[in-house]
Amino acid sequence: MGRLAILGALHEEIADLLAAMDPGAVVHRIAMRDFHVGTLWGTPCVIALSRIGKVAAAATASIVIQQFKVSRVIFTGLAGGLHADVAVGDVVVASALMQHDMDARPLFGQYEIPLLARAQFDTDAALSARLRESAEEFLESHAPALGGRAALRPRPRVHCGLIATGDVFVNDNDEAQKLRLRLPEALCLEMEGGATAQVCHEFGIPFAVLRVISDRADHAAKVDFTDFLVNVARVYTAGILAPLLRPGVLPDA
Ligand code: ADE
Repeated sequence: MGRLAILGALHEEIADLLAAMDPGAVVHRIAMRDFHVGTLWGTPCVIALSRIGKVAAAATASIVIQQFKVSRVIFTGLAGGLHADVAVGDVVVASALMQHDMDARPLFGQYEIPLLARAQFDTDAALSARLRESAEEFLESHAPALGGRAALRPRPRVHCGLIATGDVFVNDNDEAQKLRLRLPEALCLEMEGGATAQVCHEFGIPFAVLRVISDRADHAAKVDFTDFLVNVARVYTAGILAPLLRPGVLPDA
């Protein structure tokens, strides 16, 4: 089986994965980033901290594909809920990604990636389906414990759909509302998935994006995001990915 890349934008989003890697993992430093190459729960992986934003994510995705020859990529981390149905503590598995700040009008359509003739990139259906199942099982078994947190509704949900990416941390009600009206299909906002998706598309590498909702992209977003990052993010990521990485669970790539 080919190697899987797992990328996250902040240390807390991948901390438990790094801690769980086999002791023989080797660190390669390239372009100011550490690439941890080894085995995670039986699956050959490279785990890396991309840092925040589209350029950082694109650079990191290019490196794992070219230097480490990964056969698929998962980007994991937090996101701000945009759609009315998406609450703090919910999980979103992307079916497609778009870049909400891409606007080369009048040369190209709004959101269209110039010269690629598309505005959205579909995730790998099999990989995303496995992530979704694993997220459902995780929430089923951990909801009581997670639901004890004041910020979470009693029963967090898993959503599958469009994720919107841009180089902006949205923490303003009006800004969030404008995006909601412009992109009624978008479930949540984050800052890396759409760039990773574009690079994977260009290289022909299957990819998936897993996001846990930390805030509602409103005036309280900074406080909610920070609280969630420090206290909850790592539990979700590791809890959802661990069953998936057991040998034989992921579809062959
Ligand atoms: N990631 C987590 N919360 C976010 C927000 N409100 N805007 C953009 N990216 C985010």
